[in-house]
Amino acid sequence: MENTKLTADLIKKYHQDLVYNYSQYPTKDYWDYEFKDEQYKQSLNDWISKNKNEPIIFYVHTPFCEQLCYFCTCSKLITKNYDTVKDYLYNYLFKEIDLLFDFLDKKKIKLNVKEIYFGGGSPTYYKKEDFKKLVDKLKGKFDFSKLGDFTVEIDPRRVDEEKLLFYNDCGVNRLSFGVQEFDAEVQRRINREQPAELFHSILTKKVKEKYKTFNFDLLIGLPGQTNDSMEKTMDKLIKIRPPQVQPMLLAYKPWVAKAQIKMVKDGPLPDSFDRKQLFKIAADRLSKAGYVRAGFETYVLPNDPIDVAMKEKKAYYNSLGVQKGAATNFVSIGSSGQGSLGDEYYSQNFYSMNLYKKCLDEGKLPIYRGIKLSEDDKIRRYLMNEVRTYFKIKFEEIENVFKINFKEYFSKELLSLAEHVKDELVSISNESLIITELGKNFAPQIANVFDKYDPPSVTYNERLKRINKVAVHPS
Ligand SMILES: C[S@@+](CC[C@H](N)C(=O)[O-])C[C@H]1O[C@@H](n2cnc3c(N)ncnc32)[C@H](O)[C@@H]1O
Ligand code: SF4
Repeated sequence: MENTKLTADLIKKYHQDLVYNYSQYPTKDYWDYEFKDEQYKQSLNDWISKNKNEPIIFYVHTPFCEQLCYFCTCSKLITKNYDTVKDYLYNYLFKEIDLLFDFLDKKKIKLNVKEIYFGGGSPTYYKKEDFKKLVDKLKGKFDFSKLGDFTVEIDPRRVDEEKLLFYNDCGVNRLSFGVQEFDAEVQRRINREQPAELFHSILTKKVKEKYKTFNFDLLIGLPGQTNDSMEKTMDKLIKIRPPQVQPMLLAYKPWVAKAQIKMVKDGPLPDSFDRKQLFKIAADRLSKAGYVRAGFETYVLPNDPIDVAMKEKKAYYNSLGVQKGAATNFVSIGSSGQGSLGDEYYSQNFYSMNLYKKCLDEGKLPIYRGIKLSEDDKIRRYLMNEVRTYFKIKFEEIENVFKINFKEYFSKELLSLAEHVKDELVSISNESLIITELGKNFAPQIANVFDKYDPPSVTYNERLKRINKVAVHPS
């Protein structure tokens, strides 16, 4: 990365705390809170009947973990009581599966499921027999013989070689590990102790034979992280050589995850300048070790399926990070699970376990909010993916897909990028907008220029105010 000109002045000028990452557009705060079970069913019926062959990712959320990581903004509940987990699985998740598929059967709709993704929380919390029952339940609902990726998010502290091989016997063929950072002091400060040796003991030869690709999540901006700790973490990571690595910038949202405040007990978090340096160290080390960049926060080994998808321009950025794009539509179950149908609809289940359960007890799908996208939303959503994944907007491509004149349609936005052009963050020609190496540091902020609801003129405090207003809706 040639970002020698990444100065504190530039960071001050262009860095904005965005509170979201554009894995969706419009961002969730702008979704419709009247969109519930009935509207969701209508959207499934309308969209799937028009798009019978479109591949679907079936996402299953398990919101339980044994121990709290202080940084975590995922939707999770901390419990040591396995009965709580079983109650969720057998009395609610199974009921949601039945309600969903009864509705689809009634409408004679078949889901063309091409991928499964078990996320959390920690799906590794399930004991083997319960994990298998969940997989068997799904096997009764759609055809597993047509599946591509079946991914499980793995808390490495809760698995061993045998459990990972067992998952593979159940059909799982891709793993995504929470790694975050290997430094012991950083791990202490985030309440998550897991030495690098743990990965050597679970990622055995047999496991690697079964899983051709697996992902490591890293976090940039954790308390106590220094350039030195990042160098050492990267040394350890590169020895393990995961085919996919996601070095993600820590989202600091103490209004969502109160425990984040505990991370600053022994000193402040790395600031935005430190974070850029930490990211650069991770990125440089990965590049030197042969990894290639795939979007804003993803690095993969050459010829990994995501690298292939990048070259074929099929890669796609969503709430699971950069994906190879084999399926981009989500049907999701479990508390907080998010749906996405083409570029027409988003939906999300309740976060609150009480409200999630209440809906299911009443025989309704537990939808918290959703949105039907306008034509303008669709155009901008497309742009967000281009900016975050490919760092480039080809005007002709957008014009062909959406039948607009790009420069006219976005004249205001292009004008407001004049300063970015002067500072060499973007270059704009008659054909395209290209984000430079320097500009890649600000890709989310550049995407923000195209956000109609929440453009750069909106201040951080105004964004927080809006979030607080949204929070009056029980979640
Ligand atoms: C559900 S967790 C991963 C699976 C498993 N529970 C684990 O922790 O090993 C998904 C990922 O979200 C990321 N994540 C959690 N909190 C975050 C935050 N505040 N900012 C950015 N990423 C975060 C972490 O990197 C984490 O690995
Ligand atoms: S990072 Fe993973 S294990 Fe830690 S609290 Fe979040 S979901 Fe649970």
